[in-house]
Amino acid sequence: MESTVTEAFHFVCSSQFWRMAIFWTLSLIISYLQSFAQRFVAAQSKSFVYSSPPSLPQATRSVPSATNALRTPICIITGATSGLGAAAANALSMKGFYIVLAGRSSDLLAKAISDIKRQHIGALVKAFEVDMSSFKSVLKFKNSLQQWLLESNLHSSVQLLINNAGILATSCRLTPEDYDEMMATNYIGAFCLTKVLMPLLENSPVPSRVINVTSFTHRNVSGMPVDNDTVTGKCFSRLNCYPYAQIYEYSKFCLLLFSYELQRQIGIMEKSHQAPENGVSSIIDAALAPPEITGVYFFGGNGGTIRSSALSYSTKLSKDLWATSCDIFLELQLASTGTSA
Ligand SMILES: NC(=O)c1ccc[n+]([C@@H]2O[C@H](COP(=O)([O-])OP(=O)(O)OC[C@H]3O[C@@H](n4cnc5c(N)ncnc54)[C@H](OP(=O)(O)O)[C@@H]3O)[C@@H](O)[C@H]2O)c1
Repeated sequence: MESTVTEAFHFVCSSQFWRMAIFWTLSLIISYLQSFAQRFVAAQSKSFVYSSPPSLPQATRSVPSATNALRTPICIITGATSGLGAAAANALSMKGFYIVLAGRSSDLLAKAISDIKRQHIGALVKAFEVDMSSFKSVLKFKNSLQQWLLESNLHSSVQLLINNAGILATSCRLTPEDYDEMMATNYIGAFCLTKVLMPLLENSPVPSRVINVTSFTHRNVSGMPVDNDTVTGKCFSRLNCYPYAQIYEYSKFCLLLFSYELQRQIGIMEKSHQAPENGVSSIIDAALAPPEITGVYFFGGNGGTIRSSALSYSTKLSKDLWATSCDIFLELQLASTGTSA
């Protein structure tokens, strides 16, 4: 009991606590003010709410196998066993998606499946065990997914990828590659998963979409480099005090830069990213938005979008982060080939 009180006291006295209490509150207020101002100016008629999953273009309706497969577009959700991921899985299942749940625990995945099926009897749901902080696990997931699509006679493509898994770790933990676990889960895992799933996303006969679940806290990032040491979080493990609030903000900032760069690099895909402060509604808005709505930051529900921080629109920073992330991806690929050889 005494140690719990002491721990709580230390927590409240820490700079990280005050950073979250003050800066995070301020950045949330700024986001809401922006959202209200935007809605006021845009007026009700310009907001959008969509209710259907992407439909097949007329031309592909004549291909029976593809038609069958794509009557139920596939949506992958990482971190789908609780919170926003589970809520999004439920909601999107109701909208007609074939939901692929990606999570760490087989028990929690089984529970998530039965929760969805209880609410929606005809739901199409499949689950895979994936640890987003592990490149090996991400690769294994991609292979199992491809195998499953083949065996289930489904079209070899993915229509929607929601990179939702995320953690706020208050102490330093390292992955087997010595990467910071929070950076590995929140950013590197999402980058690598998107990369390895790119052929399936690009193979979709209807516009595919990637949703990166970011956070208003990205607004607090300024002057952080995007080199290998920082993106892998190795530099943080050398510090005496683990700056977890800053690392969380930075991981979400990287996810935003990645979203914008993905948008610039791959013209054929539709991408969105969003902040989930209004529960699951922003995720659903992003998932069901029409193809022309792309590269935007959803906030506040009812289809609302706002601008992310000024720094997140830096093309140079996005390009530098992209280059660093590709190097990390290559590093991980080489290491995994070495391990499996
Ligand atoms: N809730 C908010 O107000 C808020 C605000 C801003 C941003 N966000 C972001 O929204 C996302 C969802 O947040 P939430 O509030 O719904 O959190 P949550 O309830 O803690 O859910 C996080 C999910 O991510 C999964 N996860 C964690 N590490 C993982 C890993 N290594 N591999 C695979 N899955 C992993 C968790 O699975 P396990 O059960 O296995 O741990 C869980 O299903 C996060 O990215 C978060 O940063 C949330």
